[in-house]
Amino acid sequence: MEDANGRNRQLELDDKRYIWHPFTQMQDYSLEAPLIIEKGEGCTLVDIHGKAYLDGVSSLWTNVHGHRKRRLDLAVREQLDRVAHSTLLGLSNVPAIELAKKLVAIAPQGLTKVFYSDNGSTAVEIALKMAFQYHQQTDGENGGKGKFIAFKNAYHGDTIGSVSVGGIDIFHEKYSPLLFHAYKAESPYCYRCPWERSYPSCGLECLMRLEALMKAHAHEVCALVIEPLVQGAAGMLIQPPGFLEGVRDLCTKYDILMIADEVAVGFGKTGRMFACDHGGIAPDMMALAKGISGGYLPLAATLTTEKIYEGFLGRYEEFKTFFHGHTYTGNPLACAAAIANLDIFKEERLLEELEEKIRLLTERLESFKSLLHVGDIRQLGIMVGIELVADRLSKRPFEPKEKIGHRVILEARRRGLIIRPLGNVIVLMPPLSISTEEIERLCHITFTAIRAVTEGR
Ligand SMILES: Cc1ncc(COP(=O)(O)O)c(C=O)c1O
Repeated sequence: MEDANGRNRQLELDDKRYIWHPFTQMQDYSLEAPLIIEKGEGCTLVDIHGKAYLDGVSSLWTNVHGHRKRRLDLAVREQLDRVAHSTLLGLSNVPAIELAKKLVAIAPQGLTKVFYSDNGSTAVEIALKMAFQYHQQTDGENGGKGKFIAFKNAYHGDTIGSVSVGGIDIFHEKYSPLLFHAYKAESPYCYRCPWERSYPSCGLECLMRLEALMKAHAHEVCALVIEPLVQGAAGMLIQPPGFLEGVRDLCTKYDILMIADEVAVGFGKTGRMFACDHGGIAPDMMALAKGISGGYLPLAATLTTEKIYEGFLGRYEEFKTFFHGHTYTGNPLACAAAIANLDIFKEERLLEELEEKIRLLTERLESFKSLLHVGDIRQLGIMVGIELVADRLSKRPFEPKEKIGHRVILEARRRGLIIRPLGNVIVLMPPLSISTEEIERLCHITFTAIRAVTEGR
């Protein structure tokens, strides 16, 4: 016991001493007791002291079937007995091939080529570079539509290209001298509509404005990038019905490639396999990561069409090759996990099973409206954003220095739930395998934590 306590104390000290945590103000972190995870099972994570927590954000929106899912564990172990890694640059490997075939079979129509990488940012970065190079190589003599359209409030990752098409000022603005320019369309953020209109009487003003932007710049824009249906990192901003389909139509009308970033929304989180499936639309490129490997191993894929792929074909000395590739591209262990992930979706009829859970979640979220500082509750599928406001009537936000979201998640943590806020928005995004009892607990603890922090303010 003494040994375990000693080890734990040392881990806590060494964590603060050696690790620089991502998206974390380390000055604050150094003052708090760190939460160090030792193991997991199902939707539960257990820390080094043996305290159990419900994983309310699926380990940063990745986990699909829970932790230590036997089938996934086995798939990785069996692949370990064959080979852990070999390169995809000019060679191939068995799981990468089998996975590519499965992805194409479930992807929106026309996405027939799979380009692997290992995280969401690179999946988007690859799509941007592909769209750019495709136009350089196919536009003819005057060639090269080279600009992009992206959205305010967008988040596509942290590499320089992905940040260039990002639209969350506190994350992105500091880097502006490093970034390439992208035209930014207004974000369809209905709770704080930039034109103070409401759906449906607005007639999708956001779409009309987007069309005006496209009309002005279509001659120089190669691609538009969008998080379909939900702008996740901005606080689960859900697009109004018809918006995504409208964007698809406009891209076609103005000959602009449509890049759908399904990194956050893909693999069942919205209730369908892909967000694009809701509108029955097919983008020209689709970026996948996070849930692709069931939340087990770093893996990403950028899918595209035969037409774009063919724009890169040519004689060796023409150098039309897509000169991009990461060392761990198509890693066999990650691909083996991803194959098992897709098999489980099918065999366990996961999306059908999910419908009832989504309904229960919606029902339980109703009660949050009684909390005076809950301004907006946004839900699509298993993705939830609860926006807390200082004043409900005027929608005045809490000041950043109040760290309201952070305080709520610390309260939740004390009660055995791990969640992570996005500013003043409390995010819930459990694994799809969450049970009804766990949904009850997830909502109960979140409700209690919000009430504990905001009551009487
Ligand atoms: C929509 C979207 N795109 C891209 C990314 C970046 O993914 P990664 O963190 O794996 O680089 C994220 C991460 O949250 C995301 O939500």
